[in-house]
Amino acid sequence: MVKICCIGAGYVGGPTMAVIALKCPDIEVVVVDISVPRIDAWNSETLPIYEPGLDDVVKQRRGKNLFFSTDVEKHVCEADIVFVSVNTPTKTQGLGAGKAADLTYWESAARMIADVSKSDKIVVEKSTVPVKTAEAIEKILMHNSKGINFQILSNPEFLAEGTAIEDLFKPDRVLIGGRETPEGAKAVQALKNVYAHWVPVDQILCTNLWSAELSKLAANAFLAQRISSVNAMSALCEATGADVTQVAYAVGKDTRIGPKFLNASVGFGGSCFQKDILNLVYICECNGLPEVANYWKQVIKINDYQKSRFVNRVVSSMFNTVSGKKIAVFGFAFKKDTGDTRETPAIDVCKGLLGDKAKIDIYDPQVSKDQIQRDLTMKKFDWDHPMHLQPSSPTSMDKVNVVLDAYEAAKDAHGICILTEWDEFKALDYKKIYDNMQKPAFLFDGRNVVDADKMREIGFIVYAIGKPLDQWLKDMPAVA
Ligand code: UDX
Ligand code: UDX
Ligand code: ADP
Repeated sequence: MVKICCIGAGYVGGPTMAVIALKCPDIEVVVVDISVPRIDAWNSETLPIYEPGLDDVVKQRRGKNLFFSTDVEKHVCEADIVFVSVNTPTKTQGLGAGKAADLTYWESAARMIADVSKSDKIVVEKSTVPVKTAEAIEKILMHNSKGINFQILSNPEFLAEGTAIEDLFKPDRVLIGGRETPEGAKAVQALKNVYAHWVPVDQILCTNLWSAELSKLAANAFLAQRISSVNAMSALCEATGADVTQVAYAVGKDTRIGPKFLNASVGFGGSCFQKDILNLVYICECNGLPEVANYWKQVIKINDYQKSRFVNRVVSSMFNTVSGKKIAVFGFAFKKDTGDTRETPAIDVCKGLLGDKAKIDIYDPQVSKDQIQRDLTMKKFDWDHPMHLQPSSPTSMDKVNVVLDAYEAAKDAHGICILTEWDEFKALDYKKIYDNMQKPAFLFDGRNVVDADKMREIGFIVYAIGKPLDQWLKDMPAVA
């Protein structure tokens, strides 16, 4: 029986390994993590992450060929294939701070693998890492190998949160990068055999190590770029009276462009896009390519602009001040169907509103009060790109309430900001909400989830990203 061990039981490692266990009953999969509460949660009824379909997959295989453990060294030692799926945050200090990936966790995992291994192993990079990380990891393993043969592969994960299980069941492609040597090819084939249990072989792409690593960064940069492109258009639409949904639809009908990932929004979030682009920017700068670095930086600048533009709209339309006014925030997660808040635009928008002394009541169906508190009070390091919405000192929670439903959040509020596109926000009784609000009642839809015209009929003054403006908003132009 082939044994797989995955180091890191997070958003990537957990779901990916659960699906491998489901699709490959002949393989034993153990997911290990240094975090005891995380592993306890994976072994409990309440999994540590919310992901549609995940519970079911875990329940089917846990205790059979899927295990979660904190005994990292034992399971690494026993495995034939070791996936490394530890976190790779952006460096906060030192060389490359604010841009380069922090590979501390990766390096310590590599050293531990070298330390405890007694048999040959295939080591698979699963976390997104900068190009040439595999080479660095290979060096650590080789120099500490005690005669053991390590083959390093890059197998970037393309799953998106909220649809992780679906994405893993039917991936557009699986990418495996390896050394172009006979041993490298053998290792690639071994990993290919795992995925071939359920993925058609012509969708399993094999490349060299660097191409695989760079493809992941490039794919995320291209996706983020589409969103920044449509968000840039949304500003122009508001200025000219065009409707961004109509423009995006017309543009996406061109088969060379395609319809996906053209939804204008208050900004993209998530653990990957910003981090990976910053990483790409850093790699370009290190390779003497400032023009290329600046090109990609612009994607993040537009994203920051979109968030601050939204806050400016809220403040300017409410007579240029939100001081002391209650604002309801619908949705805090970075997208629907996840409880994840990493880099969510809601953090910057809430901080922006709090900076203008608003009182905010937040409701999100999946994000806990503790999480929101951590996100809003954590002091962020200084990025070298304009995070103009980030106050330098931590935000106080005095003016923040986290509540259990949308109606409560909106009660007596002056305005509502929809920041996550949860389906339930479409089905709310907005008449009832309107009746319980201060007048004039404002609705700022950062995700274009509600029917703006119906909301106007109820009585709301509506701002929807990239849509023609109400007379009210035209009369109260946002200050840049
Ligand atoms: C373009 C649009 O495609 C068309 O829809 C519009 O009506 C007019 O402008 P055209 O300029 O005739 O059409 O040719 P196109 O095939 O788009 O190529 C434009 C340029 O891009 C060419 O120089 C082409 O060589 C280059 N190109 C195209 C690339 O360098 N790489 C590509 O992948 C595609
Ligand atoms: C992304 C990539 O899609 C995935 O392939 C990669 O493995 C990890 O990063 P994820 O961050 O989980 O996945 O979610 P994604 O669906 O890509 O959304 C990212 C952000 O973009 C969200 O904040 C989302 O709301 C936003 N978005 C997405 C838009 O604003 N408009 C769109 O049209 C699509
Ligand atoms: P991702 O979104 O990439 O999956 P997460 O932060 O959700 O990232 O998960 C990474 C996991 O890796 C965390 O649960 C963390 O505790 C774990 N981890 C980090 N370093 C190590 C290590 N050296 N050994 C075992 N687990 C580790």
